[in-house]
Amino acid sequence: MPPVPPRLALCASAELLDGRYLKAPITFEGQREECLLIRFAGTAYAYINRCVHMPRRLDCEQPAVFDADGRHLRCSMHGIVYTPQTGTSLSALCEGKQLRALGVYEENGEVGLADFRVGASQG
Ligand code: FES
Repeated sequence: MPPVPPRLALCASAELLDGRYLKAPITFEGQREECLLIRFAGTAYAYINRCVHMPRRLDCEQPAVFDADGRHLRCSMHGIVYTPQTGTSLSALCEGKQLRALGVYEENGEVGLADFRVGASQG
């Protein structure tokens, strides 16, 4: 059997509404990072909360990571927009660059990370 990645539960499925997000401190590849867990069109996705343009959080200037119509993620610093499903920049600025995606699981009413690179939560 292939090795199973460790799981880090983040919230109940019902808490992660469509078009919403939550943030959680994690250890990623031994570094303290912030995880961005989103739900878009029913599916949960997770990324390291760091823009591809500069090392800023997407919500560094405003408490939001989705754009006004909820179709894309958007960095509040200089406005790069990303595809929610892949974290790919659609903007001329950094076009094609991708947010660092994390493995996600959703099972038995719980959603969280399932990723070999993720260690224990930093609380
Ligand atoms: S830091 Fe995100 S768009 Fe510039």
